Amino acid sequence: MNHNLNLLSRRNFLSKGIGFMGTMVSTLVTSSAFGQVLNLKTPRQTLGPFFPDDGDPISETRENLDFRLAISEANDNDLTHIKGHKEYAEGQVVYIKGRVLFNNERKMEPQPGAVLIMWNASASGRYNHRGDMEATRFQHPQSGEWIERNLDENFQYWGRCITDKDGHYWFKTIVPGFYPVDIEKGWYRPPHLHFMVTAPGIPQLVTQLYFKGNQIKNEKLIWNLNAKDNILRSPRLTSKEQENIIIGYQKDPDGKITDGLVGHYDFVLSY
Ligand SMILES: [Fe+2]
Repeated sequence: MNHNLNLLSRRNFLSKGIGFMGTMVSTLVTSSAFGQVLNLKTPRQTLGPFFPDDGDPISETRENLDFRLAISEANDNDLTHIKGHKEYAEGQVVYIKGRVLFNNERKMEPQPGAVLIMWNASASGRYNHRGDMEATRFQHPQSGEWIERNLDENFQYWGRCITDKDGHYWFKTIVPGFYPVDIEKGWYRPPHLHFMVTAPGIPQLVTQLYFKGNQIKNEKLIWNLNAKDNILRSPRLTSKEQENIIIGYQKDPDGKITDGLVGHYDFVLSY
């Protein structure tokens, strides 16, 4: 199947199916230390074609060997290392952490026991998915240099985290590479992390988070790709919603995490 068509048809489906969610935006209340607009319901973004799938022909990763679990739930929340491997994933290490909250009218309720599944491409922009077999080599849109979208045998590609009693989650991963969607039209997906968030009794949230910050490598290129991405810049999202899902990464202000930059994001679910 054509990757582009697949992506676009899913996108159409999502914009028709849940487009009304874009209008359900609460007012800006305040900003957190990390700059996230608080109380803004997390906007929905397409699932995309690369959700972790059973039967993947490319070095399937399953750290939890309980085969009753779907493969999307069979890994831990550190994507930079696969249990039993000596080597670590290639790429710039980042942590994303925060809480899962439910916006119940005016009250924000933390969600313990919410399940987050996160998946992202390798440092060279390749997914471990049978659907990601096209354009495995492409020219950098600025330098013209050829980029090989290689699989990284030491990258875990997806993981699961269950929130603690106060609704906290965290993942450790690498900044994924950017990758082409439609080279003729000059559309490249900026680095992004995919999420599926499931909490009991609340509609499931599927979204994507993006990167910014002067310590992120290739910050300028990423800024440019963010500015032009058809999914991040969907007209379904207000400009506040778009900024809400571009996450700033910095050194841990608490000084506890020393092996990677830290980004903060609270997922705000709603009916
Ligand atoms: Fe993606």
